Amino acid sequence: MMKKINLSDLKAGMKFSRAVYITPTNMLVGPNMPLKSSDIEKLKRWGIKEVETAGDIIFSPTPEILEDEKPKPGDYKKRIVLEYNKLHRIKKRYKDEYDEAVNGISSILRYAQHKKAINEVKIRNIAHTLVSSILPNEHIFIYLASNMTNENDYLPYHSINVAIFSVIIANQIKIDPKLMANLTISAILHDIGMTKIPLKILTKKERLTTEEFNIIKLHPIYGYKMLAKDSSLSADIANVALQHHEQYDGEGYPRKLKGEKIDLFSRIVAIADTYDAMTKKRNYRAKFISYDAMKNILSESKNKFDPRLLKIFLSNLSIYPVASLVKLNTNAVGMVIGAYSDKPLRPIIKIIVDEFGDRLEETEERIIDLSEEQDMFIVGAVNEKDFGINTFSLV
Ligand SMILES: [Fe+2]
Repeated sequence: MMKKINLSDLKAGMKFSRAVYITPTNMLVGPNMPLKSSDIEKLKRWGIKEVETAGDIIFSPTPEILEDEKPKPGDYKKRIVLEYNKLHRIKKRYKDEYDEAVNGISSILRYAQHKKAINEVKIRNIAHTLVSSILPNEHIFIYLASNMTNENDYLPYHSINVAIFSVIIANQIKIDPKLMANLTISAILHDIGMTKIPLKILTKKERLTTEEFNIIKLHPIYGYKMLAKDSSLSADIANVALQHHEQYDGEGYPRKLKGEKIDLFSRIVAIADTYDAMTKKRNYRAKFISYDAMKNILSESKNKFDPRLLKIFLSNLSIYPVASLVKLNTNAVGMVIGAYSDKPLRPIIKIIVDEFGDRLEETEERIIDLSEEQDMFIVGAVNEKDFGINTFSLV
């Protein structure tokens, strides 16, 4: 059913799920296309007071920060708190976008499993939407990629998480923007070969036998074959499916390639892949919190990765990422809401459980800037499950 929307409710940047019409035959803007301020000006000039659409608003620009709220130069704490408040306002929109990407890739993987061609337009759209949302909102996407998973339906979540981490690395090394779309698609599809591995092996709760592990190790070749025969996808996308388990030290598979013999996309995806897998619970092991995953990568698997890319990735993640939980020496537990770049060990936190073990009410906001509190410090990162806390509901 068509709904009328007043001109005064239209904002530049808004997107609708269906086309917006001026008259039944005169379209103002297509579905999922941002409304331009010139479109709104045009309507004003023509004296048009309302437009019609059968869709819903799927994106509305975040209100600008009010002038008196704007931090003065150097007022970092205020800026961090403001950024956090912005995160609070926009998180649902990006969570929805994340879920949509997972659903989209889920159906692409199901199709591919049954030997159907990959819908190139669909995967390009998923990649495009992801990249344009991730780049201005890295914090929230790092949070989503670090926390979202489904033990019983691991692959679609893993695919999107790896794409998110890969885009963040690629952006840091200032990859040619023309390559970003293909990098994202290659990251989304890197494990497509897993759809050919028997479910019995993938869902096994016990340790895999050597024979079973050897079957899993075939997934890069399966993936490569599935993608290489698809002429609509470029060769660098199939290559990542083939090379993402190669290791910088030459100890990977299937071809034991070494160093820069492994292509750049695959070196990026390898880091994103390992980090995502470690930070998620699998049916055969518990998850690592991000702090422990970073420590583990640095101590045990450092030589597996391109050192320059690994350094960039880890420094971008920050020791205590936004929305992670930390315990203080006072016994209070807080959620990190931001940090000064030169004081990563003393972030700004919002207290969730006070020093007496009592959970604070939503309204009792206590923000502590550890850079100003010399008597307080972090004793360790903690797992949200241990405290029955769902940080996403708190961010
Ligand atoms: Fe893989």
